[in-house]
Amino acid sequence: MQGDGAGIVAGLAAREGRGIPPVNEFCRLRPRLRKPDFAGFFSYGSVGCCLLRSAPSEFSENELQPAGTCSSVVSPVSFFHKQVRKIDPSMSKAGSGVLKNRVFLPPHPNYLASSAIPREKAPGRSQGHGVEAGCAAEIPPKRHRRGEGTPASSRCMRRRRRPESPIWWSPAPASSGVEVEGGVALGVPFRGEFPPGGGFEGGMELNVPILSCSEVMERLKESQEMRSSDQQYLAMYSSISGGITTDPAAMVIPMDDHMVHRGHGVFDTATIEDGYLYELDNHLDRFLRSASMAKINLPFDLSSMRSILVQTVSASKCRKGSLRYWLSAGPGDFLLSSSGCHKSAFYAIVIHDQSPSNQKGVKVITSTIPIKSPQFAAMKSVNYLPNVLSKMEAEEHGAYVAIWLDDEGYIAEGPNMNVAFVTEQRELVMPHFDKILSGCTARRILVLAERLVLNGTLSRVGLCNMTVEEGKMVREMMLIGSGVLVKPILQWDESIIGDGKEGPVAQSLLDLLLEDMRSGPADVRTPVDLEPPIQRILLQVLGDLDTTFISDFMSSGSICRIISIGCSVL
Ligand SMILES: Cc1ncc(COP(=O)(O)O)c(C=O)c1O
Repeated sequence: MQGDGAGIVAGLAAREGRGIPPVNEFCRLRPRLRKPDFAGFFSYGSVGCCLLRSAPSEFSENELQPAGTCSSVVSPVSFFHKQVRKIDPSMSKAGSGVLKNRVFLPPHPNYLASSAIPREKAPGRSQGHGVEAGCAAEIPPKRHRRGEGTPASSRCMRRRRRPESPIWWSPAPASSGVEVEGGVALGVPFRGEFPPGGGFEGGMELNVPILSCSEVMERLKESQEMRSSDQQYLAMYSSISGGITTDPAAMVIPMDDHMVHRGHGVFDTATIEDGYLYELDNHLDRFLRSASMAKINLPFDLSSMRSILVQTVSASKCRKGSLRYWLSAGPGDFLLSSSGCHKSAFYAIVIHDQSPSNQKGVKVITSTIPIKSPQFAAMKSVNYLPNVLSKMEAEEHGAYVAIWLDDEGYIAEGPNMNVAFVTEQRELVMPHFDKILSGCTARRILVLAERLVLNGTLSRVGLCNMTVEEGKMVREMMLIGSGVLVKPILQWDESIIGDGKEGPVAQSLLDLLLEDMRSGPADVRTPVDLEPPIQRILLQVLGDLDTTFISDFMSSGSICRIISIGCSVL
């Protein structure tokens, strides 16, 4: 490696084994790599970078930067992220460059293929000396928080195709000649093999920065913004901070919380439907039972916890979504016992709607992952690894979920839902809840289904343990839970259930449940204030007659509504 940096060069090499070009090769190509050419090098979904320890002197800092100037760069990832945001939308594919002592180039061959620079003009085979590091990444589009303006660059990006999957190259020494497909380069998930010798040895020297609290927050925000998921986290309460935040970057829990490193925590959920929390109290009852089984003391009394949950939903302004909450042994130490934990911790988060896209019937299989013992299955603790593996097993077999059998061979439940059957005698039956989770939705369905007994659709509703053979002979089989609501099962392993079509009882139960969620009795629907109380607004308008206030409302279009309500109140 030459000391002047001439031997340290970014490469396009790895993917096609073309080697990493030395810097003189790179410099020779430089006239062709003018700014407009580089404009072809970058797309939001596919960028590449290589790091130069010391850039060739003829590269000026701004030379290859298409738009804007980054004054600092914390990592290539954040550099690209910044670039994505700063790119002039007219240079829609722009975005490669040199920043301080780093050169960024796209080593992704697909990328080259679609870039403005013909493939053959890209730097070719070389001796590959002195390459410090190379990585390529697919950068997800930046998401914007509600209420924020959307930069033109981002709007432009959004129209483009999303990356199929992220691809990362790990830092690899050129001399190793080892191609790495994907990697945990710079803290990003990694697929594939590391080069011999541990991956980073002889490659890029991984300089892990020591960050101040504000830098950590800044990075958390960046990392949050870079997530490709469309999932919106609208509000979070934490008893550690003692408040609610609507900033997803601040939705964190302490590392030494025993729920994190020991799984000593319980959780529950409640659906938010049209501004109401559905079955909150039943879920809270189960939450407290789980807490007691897990020997976790409540940090507050039940009514305070309930009020915190309602206020968190209120702060989220979410009309349709899901509330999830956890009780943990709390932060303390890294021992097993929670005796060193200062106080149990309570967390809650509001997630935007993730309701099932359709109620079409599905296939299930019998799980080979062992079911949890009754003591743990009946408790909604955070130990969901068996449930996760069971779901993954199903997906690997082209099924929706895998069904567990209990220790006696009776049908138990799914990984996050209960099961129900309609027998030949038109009975709606579910397994007893003593060895499985007592599902709030399943229990509510048992109540609602009485209406189908009254109208003659069903002969009876009840609990009954069934064998697999019996289960496969039924008229209808369905999954029931607050996530799936009611989902018909059309096939179990190789057996077709009923006539292999979605059955009428499953449909009727779904309709009853949806109606209950939208207009059921007060004991299953807890209202949440999602807007400032209208009385407060009216008092202000009518009492103060503050013209600024009124004109604000006029411009927001709300004044007509307020005045008409105000008149009727007066
Ligand atoms: C193992 C298990 N069974 C059943 C259910 C269904 O319970 P619920 O109807 O309260 O959502 C769940 C819910 O997450 C679950 O995790």
